[in-house]
Amino acid sequence: MVKIISLVILAILSDSNMGRGRRKIAVIGAGNVGATCAFVLAQKKLGDIVMLDIYEGFAKGKALDMSQDGQVLNFDGNITGTSNYEDISDSDVVVVTSGFPRQPGMSREDLIEKNAEIIKQVGEGVKKFAPNSVVIMVTNPLDLMTYHMWKVTGFPKERIIGQAGVLDSARMTHFVAKEVGCNEEDVHAMVLGGHGDTMVPLPRYTTCGGIPITQLLDKEKINQIIERTAGGGGEIVKLLERGSAFYAPGSAAAIMAEAVLNDRKRLLPASAYLDGEYGLENIYIGVPIILGSRGVEKVIELELNTEEITSLRGSAEFYKDQLKNILGY
Ligand code: NAI
Ligand code: 2OP
Repeated sequence: MVKIISLVILAILSDSNMGRGRRKIAVIGAGNVGATCAFVLAQKKLGDIVMLDIYEGFAKGKALDMSQDGQVLNFDGNITGTSNYEDISDSDVVVVTSGFPRQPGMSREDLIEKNAEIIKQVGEGVKKFAPNSVVIMVTNPLDLMTYHMWKVTGFPKERIIGQAGVLDSARMTHFVAKEVGCNEEDVHAMVLGGHGDTMVPLPRYTTCGGIPITQLLDKEKINQIIERTAGGGGEIVKLLERGSAFYAPGSAAAIMAEAVLNDRKRLLPASAYLDGEYGLENIYIGVPIILGSRGVEKVIELELNTEEITSLRGSAEFYKDQLKNILGY
């Protein structure tokens, strides 16, 4: 009898978050994207949050401000700020947002060299103090920095993932919903490829209430949506005049962290390591994945037509060149 009760308790514990204690999430970089991500994570009550920035006071100040919002918005996490990697010890998930953002006139690729230095430093800290974490990269140029982090940490490929597709698809969703005149909730968009001008929005796999948008909108409208999605980050950089988007990017990273922490098995587009899928290898690029507690649990291979696969491979070629010629991989 005692044995049966113990087994039932064990089954309940392993099927829930009970018994695991509080989870820990480190957000590296307490700037616009990092702080937004931490704020969304806090509201989702996912665990204790540590924000790390090279500017200690900046991270501590934001953490204290956010913590004082706990009663107002009813969140129950501890939010702390630091510049010391020891404080991220044993984090379950690390979201990396540290790095320079784009300014008007800059492409994401203009950030490579400066941000690669930062990612090297961060990667070494994560490797030492959070060796079992799942890492969600945000720093641009996203697909290159995700590959770089994978190399610096030496973590299994499944535990390093880049956030781009959730944001790019959300942008496409917004434009589609406006054009169709329906609720955003009913739209599911799919954007593959690199997080840059070569991204590959897929209208055939974008639906409203299950109906492909190719049946709801004419070709000209769809092309306008594709163009606006691919230029979505640049449109905001131009409007802001200093820095780049952060509400949707920070939320997108938080949603990915939630998928890992709660083993949600979300099917999302994200930058994942390819090892032959789509005919591509030794590259991080945006593809649909299943995201759960082990990180990338599966890469989904969509049936693509000639135009779509050519665009995806073209995007991969662009980043392969940069990996080799600028980062030396
Ligand atoms: P930000 O300038 O507001 O914040 C960056 C933070 O990183 C700053 O607080 C800075 O002090 C910190 N930092 C710099 N070097 C560091 C180091 N070595 N260690 C720890 N912290 C360090 O910039 P924002 O807007 O938050 O953007 C952050 C990055 O995310 C940029 O590279 C940006 O291009 C990228 N981004 C990526 C998106 C995506 O979809 N993947 C979307 C939006 C932004
Ligand atoms: C964005 O897409 C700049 O990558 C950033 O908003």
